[in-house]
Amino acid sequence: MSTLARWLGERVPLGRFDIKELTNEPVPEHLKRWWWCLGGTPAYLFIVQIATGILLAFYYEPSAARAYESVRFVTEEAAYGWFLRGIHKWGATLMIAAVILHQMRVYFTGGYRRPRELNWMVGMCLLVCTLTIGFTGYSLVYEQLSYWGATVGANIAASVPVVGPWMKTLLLGGEEYGAQTLPRFFMLHAAVLPALMICLLVVHIALIRLHGVTDLRFRGDESKPPKPFLFYPDHFYTELMIGLGLTVLLAALATILPATMGPKADPLSTPEVIKPEWFFYVAFRWLKLFSGTAAVLSIGFVLFVMFVWPFIDAAIRKYTRFAEASVWIGIAGALSIIGLTVWEAAVAH
Ligand code: HEM
Repeated sequence: MSTLARWLGERVPLGRFDIKELTNEPVPEHLKRWWWCLGGTPAYLFIVQIATGILLAFYYEPSAARAYESVRFVTEEAAYGWFLRGIHKWGATLMIAAVILHQMRVYFTGGYRRPRELNWMVGMCLLVCTLTIGFTGYSLVYEQLSYWGATVGANIAASVPVVGPWMKTLLLGGEEYGAQTLPRFFMLHAAVLPALMICLLVVHIALIRLHGVTDLRFRGDESKPPKPFLFYPDHFYTELMIGLGLTVLLAALATILPATMGPKADPLSTPEVIKPEWFFYVAFRWLKLFSGTAAVLSIGFVLFVMFVWPFIDAAIRKYTRFAEASVWIGIAGALSIIGLTVWEAAVAH
């Protein structure tokens, strides 16, 4: 053993055997099929977002006077800045899509059922954080659409009864979009939300390790004994292959469809069409259909139902004959979300 290894071994008493123990977690056989490994995809993309976000933060200046110019500098002048911005932007889109797909897989396979209810709730917090980090990031560029999107978002928050006006002031750092707004969005986007997500992910992964992943049985396999395999190296290599595939996809998207810039924000001229990012289309269409407090409250209610869904589902299964109601409710929910998103994407207003 080299002197350095001996020195380190004394200070960090973790042997090869301990590391093997830590990574030897048996995972259920169905995870051999790569399309069941969707949990690792947002985890990988989160790391990409942190790495590219740190590099972008070297240039970004969170003030109304400098924000737009600093993003323009990254896009047009800094070495490979356009590529980094493209990766960060496409990484955000893919991460949100991956979180939604992972949540759908957990939902439709009943992975949230006892004893994993708490982990579903941690997952819901991760979903809300992922969407909020997307919203705050979009607002940082200080383009017309990001400025007016943030203004509309703050006004929507203000229509929540009782705490609404307070939420708006907290978000904007004043009554209106002003000098305090961008620094606040930047702190949320680059510090508060990533730190919160890291804490939530630690709890999420710890609970997965404690419970293990739900063992799924496919039709015809019910009588066969479970055949778990080791996390390392088999599952690790599957995740690595997915990560490599995603890296190629991200690089291709950032090159073929690079991140562009719209016109600079003008607080005195409202654009004819204000659209949020695609992942808020569903909420935006809902707000147009049932404007005001009713829309905001109903969205809050839907989120609450999603949050406590494991307990509602358990009650349905215990007290009614509709044991598989969750499948039909899930299909109806997914079709409604897709329908409202496509509707909002298809129309100008
Ligand atoms: C940044 C976001 C997230 C990351 C990185 C993540 C990561 C993971 C990973 C690696 C697994 C192991 C199994 C698999 O690969 O599918 C998992 C399982 C799980 N996740 Fe997530 N997750 C995230 C968001 C969510 C969300 C939004 C929900 C639901 C609201 C959720 C609920 C669960 C549950 C209940 C399990 C256990 C499923 C089972 O045992 O079958 N997660 N997650």
